Amino acid sequence: MQFKTERKVGKTGVMLIGLGGNNGSTCVAGAIANKLGLTWETKNGTQKSNFWGSLLMSSTVKLGNDSRGNAVYTPMNKMLPFLHPNDIVWGGWDINSANLGEAMKRCMVLDYELQKKLEPHMREIKPLPSIYFPDFIAANQSDRADNVLTGTKQDQMEQIRKDIRDFKSANGLDQVILLWTANTERFAAVEEGINDTAENILGSIENGEEEVSASTVFAVASILEGCTFINGSPQNTFVPGVIELARQKKVFIAGDDFKSGQTKMKSVMVDFLVSAGIKPVSIVSYNHLGNNDGKNLSAPSQFRSKEISKSNVVDDMVASNRILFEEDEHPDHVVVIKYVPYVGDSKRAMDEYTSEIFMGGKNTIVMHNTCEDSLLATPLIYDLVILGEFCQRVQVKKEGETEWESLHPVLSLLSYMLKAPLVPNGAPVVNALFTQRCAIVNFMRACLGLAPDNHMSLEHRFESTLAALNAEEPANKKMRLS
Ligand SMILES: NC(=O)c1ccc[n+]([C@@H]2O[C@H](COP(=O)([O-])OP(=O)(O)OC[C@H]3O[C@@H](n4cnc5c(N)ncnc54)[C@H](O)[C@@H]3O)[C@@H](O)[C@H]2O)c1
Repeated sequence: MQFKTERKVGKTGVMLIGLGGNNGSTCVAGAIANKLGLTWETKNGTQKSNFWGSLLMSSTVKLGNDSRGNAVYTPMNKMLPFLHPNDIVWGGWDINSANLGEAMKRCMVLDYELQKKLEPHMREIKPLPSIYFPDFIAANQSDRADNVLTGTKQDQMEQIRKDIRDFKSANGLDQVILLWTANTERFAAVEEGINDTAENILGSIENGEEEVSASTVFAVASILEGCTFINGSPQNTFVPGVIELARQKKVFIAGDDFKSGQTKMKSVMVDFLVSAGIKPVSIVSYNHLGNNDGKNLSAPSQFRSKEISKSNVVDDMVASNRILFEEDEHPDHVVVIKYVPYVGDSKRAMDEYTSEIFMGGKNTIVMHNTCEDSLLATPLIYDLVILGEFCQRVQVKKEGETEWESLHPVLSLLSYMLKAPLVPNGAPVVNALFTQRCAIVNFMRACLGLAPDNHMSLEHRFESTLAALNAEEPANKKMRLS
């Protein structure tokens, strides 16, 4: 295959659905703080703005070895031309009318002094009125809903499409990306004639069908405007009709549910256990959190969406080892989430992994993970947008063919950041974190014309190759001997 990357990064706007939430407001605040290079005092000293936790902005990639055999690393975002969060124009919708200054204060995520510095910039940003279908989110959210659209489902979708066009022209943008970071909705029933095909989902919005969620209306509006749509929550926004529409219109979609804390850990831990030949037999995960997300998830049908998205994350790792697991055998896996207002955004995740080891032995690992929820999720929003935008600019041509081809509209390359990755029909779901990372890195290497990194390090494993390296540079030889 040949890879071709458009190098010009167009001026990009990102419209968040749930702009006034913990993630939404922290995402915009973090971008402004970094752009202005803000610092602030804490009890531990001066803190500088950074992008830590973002794969694209804060991790490095091994390019290869220098002539002495030493590894050479480069920041991931220097490998190819990428969108920089500082250059993004932020906007979006919320069913709550608070400006982002108020929203930032309400969510209690950032240090007080940083909030003070950001407030004049944040209060200028006000969420656009949004689509509110009370049946899809918890009843306890109704008191937030003071900024909502009215009219038929079709009218509301048309308004969202107009908002996108207005935002694009008002800011002189080349492109807009939409990302759902609003409340978790209940699952929508997938029904023949309602949401099973592109034609039916468009018809259902026109007819005001009950079973079409707000997130699905946003996704359809986004696709019809040619804008990539990313879903950071667990519900099935991407019913079959939406996926078909994305394919017809050749617009990218990616989801579902940010993989920020407990699940990220799980997708590392279980990969380690199974690939080490150890058999996890029971995985029990408790969470408690006290932010508005926790309040919404305290309702059974919204919790159910989260439970489903968290439940399949070990399947590919279990299925990879038939020495340990029979065909239809799975570890016991239970997830509990409780709402405890006092802990606020500081989610606590407690996990117990019990595994069977050598000769009937048992190994139990217990973990306590304090996840500052929005500070872990926000860098993933940057990553999803940066990588999603990049994917729009890559094309491949197979050997012997003349046509260039874009990636499949279902962007599975973004799986690293997502808990329940949506993949094209017929493609395997990969949850193992480092396999997902490897896919991203090797894809970027291909765009640069570099071979995939295979970690064989043959140059360090033979007398002859080591001798050649040591002969290269006397100083290096000394270093090696010592
Ligand atoms: N670590 C994390 O924070 C994390 C991880 C994975 C998934 N998520 C998901 O991300 C989402 C956002 O999390 P959060 O902590 O920011 O929640 P939040 O409750 O603080 O923010 C959600 C915002 O969405 C708004 N909203 C609700 N329905 C809307 C609609 N139809 N249109 C526009 N706005 C709407 C609410 O008013 C609120 O301001 C949740 O679904 C959560 O499950 C978060």
